[in-house]
Amino acid sequence: MATPIAVSKRRLHMITWGCQMNVYDSGRMADVLAPLGYAPAEAPEDADMVILNTCHIRDRAAEKVFSELGRLRVLKQAREAAGQRMILAVAGCVAQAEGAEILARAPYVDIVLGPQTYHRLPEMVARVSRAAGAVIETEFPAEDKFDFLPDAAAPQGLTAFLTIQEGCDKFCSFCVVPYTRGAEMSRPAAAVLAEARRMVAQGVREITLLGQNVNAWHGADAKGEPANFAALLAWLAEIPGLVRLRYTTSHPRDMDDALIAAHADIPAVMPFLHLPVQSGSDRMLAAMNRRHTVAHYLDIIDRLRAARPDIALSSDFIVGHPGETEADFEATLDLVRSVRFAQAFSFKYSARPGTPAAAAPGHVAPEVADRRLQTLQALLREQQAAFNDSCVGLRVPVLFAMPGRHPGQIMGKSPWMQPVHVLGDASMIGSVRQVTIAAAHTNSLAGTLEPAEGRDPVTDTPAHYEERAPV
Ligand code: 5AD
Ligand code: SF4
Repeated sequence: MATPIAVSKRRLHMITWGCQMNVYDSGRMADVLAPLGYAPAEAPEDADMVILNTCHIRDRAAEKVFSELGRLRVLKQAREAAGQRMILAVAGCVAQAEGAEILARAPYVDIVLGPQTYHRLPEMVARVSRAAGAVIETEFPAEDKFDFLPDAAAPQGLTAFLTIQEGCDKFCSFCVVPYTRGAEMSRPAAAVLAEARRMVAQGVREITLLGQNVNAWHGADAKGEPANFAALLAWLAEIPGLVRLRYTTSHPRDMDDALIAAHADIPAVMPFLHLPVQSGSDRMLAAMNRRHTVAHYLDIIDRLRAARPDIALSSDFIVGHPGETEADFEATLDLVRSVRFAQAFSFKYSARPGTPAAAAPGHVAPEVADRRLQTLQALLREQQAAFNDSCVGLRVPVLFAMPGRHPGQIMGKSPWMQPVHVLGDASMIGSVRQVTIAAAHTNSLAGTLEPAEGRDPVTDTPAHYEERAPV
């Protein structure tokens, strides 16, 4: 019998900023460190290693990292004074973009690693432990990190994220992602399907596929024939027990006919799509290098609504991109009025060093951008409230996930991502049940459970939820 290798018990604390892909990556970093004996620590005070998983997409990301590092430095020094060690690592997109700057300004940082090098973390920890000085790994290695990462640990709960695609070749004028995450690459279908099957075997019922350009995914079928993202969705939907599929974030350029048809043909694909448009002005879309027009975007929305009339839409907007005039901004408001979003994220343009927009003329005064943002957000809030109100009276399938805030209450998610509260018992957690929506609040819905009556709650998709009129 093989002798087990003794691993000393160590504790890992992670601080994660940014998108869902960072949340997924933090999980994978924990997985890769688990064989070294690292178990999760709730607080940095209890940890032997702290990883800051950073985001560089907007605002003063680097400053947030440095101020957190300042706090951790005090802890690390106290630990050292007591003869102990604390490893400090900075991961993610700030690490990728500003690795050298981090080591210059915060020399007490032990490891700086970019998003494509997480599989090398154990080796970096070993190098640091041998006191070989700080380690910086921000190249884009030839090998694929997913081939070297261990299988993801058991997911907690009913819903899980699964990264299927990384990187971006689109080079929008304002965006750091192509520089920090590198070129677009897709994980092979077999690896995605295997990970999804493992998740479902562990109790997951809803998977959100992740990628910076998730709908640009491409791969091959079992015979080696080229396969698109719609095909991947169809394969995933065949996994018994997987009842809901979502994906984010998509680019309008990659919203092809097959993917639109998948929304009509695959019941597990939820009627909700986050499709960033950024601006409603063709002039700005060109300046942003978005490679689509307003007409193209509206045509996709029309075709999606024809395929799946109950589909709800979400988007991202940037106001105050260099060169944006009042007329451009008005055009954005017009687009919002004509699409009617169920929810959306809107941001004030933030110059990212090294991106083309940062060097472009016509920077918009901050107070103008602020005012535009407030106007846009007020309109989007109105639309979100109207969308929630439009759900009242509908019978909708809800995937129950956890106890509610009040005794006797349970909480689940509607197909459109809204939290739904009903009176019910915890034994229903994990199942999909029909709920008649009675009230809409700002960020949630409340309703009453329908008796199960021996019907299959997953396949019994109620007709009038599918026929839901657009708001
Ligand atoms: N400034 C403001 N918003 C940005 N985003 C990306 N880069 C910037 C930037 N420099 C927004 C876009 C994108 C979302 C993830 O973040 O709307 O879709
Ligand atoms: Fe950034 Fe544009 Fe790529 Fe999205 S499509 S990640 S906004 S460059």
